[in-house]
Amino acid sequence: MDIQGIDHIELFVGDARQAAFYFDRAVGFELRGQGGPETGLAGQRSLLLGQGEIRMLLTTGLTGGHPAARYVRRHGDGVAVIALAVDDAAAAYAELVRRGAAPVTPPSTFTGADTEVVTAEVAGVGDVRHRLVSRRGDPAQFLPGAVAVTPPRGDGGRLLVDIDHLAICVPPGRLAGTVGHYRDVFGFAEVFAERVEVAGQAMNSTVVRSPSGRVTLVLLEPDRSHRPGQLDAFLQQHAGAGVQHLALRTDDIVTAVAALAARGVRFAGTPASYYDALQARVGPVDAPLERLRDLGVLVDRDHAGQLLQIFTESVHVRRTLFLELIERRGARSFGSGNIRALYEAKERELAAAGEGRTVAAPTSQEVRA
Ligand code: FE2
Repeated sequence: MDIQGIDHIELFVGDARQAAFYFDRAVGFELRGQGGPETGLAGQRSLLLGQGEIRMLLTTGLTGGHPAARYVRRHGDGVAVIALAVDDAAAAYAELVRRGAAPVTPPSTFTGADTEVVTAEVAGVGDVRHRLVSRRGDPAQFLPGAVAVTPPRGDGGRLLVDIDHLAICVPPGRLAGTVGHYRDVFGFAEVFAERVEVAGQAMNSTVVRSPSGRVTLVLLEPDRSHRPGQLDAFLQQHAGAGVQHLALRTDDIVTAVAALAARGVRFAGTPASYYDALQARVGPVDAPLERLRDLGVLVDRDHAGQLLQIFTESVHVRRTLFLELIERRGARSFGSGNIRALYEAKERELAAAGEGRTVAAPTSQEVRA
């Protein structure tokens, strides 16, 4: 089984048309197709968005009993499916189930003009599923018959080019088991591990990656022996494990952040003092520091090079999903300051939210209740 990359992701949302409007107008995606009862997708509306190599399906249940409606009632809007591109979805499904993955949806085939797509699903973390996708023929057809593709608008927007990684938060004590599951069942390797302690809070993280190098998951766990923080808040607001943020890669983060900010995307703030010691921490930065400071872009490095990153404020009112923009300048993994920077940036957002903090950062008693 060769997991080649992320074929697409699917978000279950309260209103696919409104979510699509945000991702289109603010984040630079474009509508590439849609499906619903008229294409055989009973009880749902699905809009396919694309930007660069990123494909994102937004799905809303049209009736209360649809799985997407049940997901949204429990979790709010969120990433429900991380679809993995494989050579042979039916064979990969059988292999993953044999290795211990929980089966969700057996293989089914979608056939179009000179195109065949096979999908099957196994459980991931919490209510997140992994959809295995194998394609023969024209990849633009997406799911022939089920999603009617739309001709590209042709404005060539490519501010964001690819999915860099997804961060998944799991309850305390579940990190090691989750890492083991991705290692033993999916064949992923552990490429980075870190424990971060900030302001009396603590969290553990492990990064797992497919052998192809094209699928990276950052697995996060709060340490409940410390003061509750944003991961505890996520687990409470999301009602369990799930995708905490979606990191999208750009080739020019300064241009991308400026464009998205001008369209109304709100980014987490970074104190100006962060930049004072920046070059001492990461070495010479090949970007205008004033622009980075103006936009709040963070800089880090690993053994191979630098990375530039920034986080949006939560895109959902439950504060359970946000975006990261990342530009890699040689860095292949994460800097030791990456997760700390994220943690501190999110803490600043929560603090700035004022009274919202009582909702976002519950007491330990509320979390344990
Ligand atoms: Fe990230």
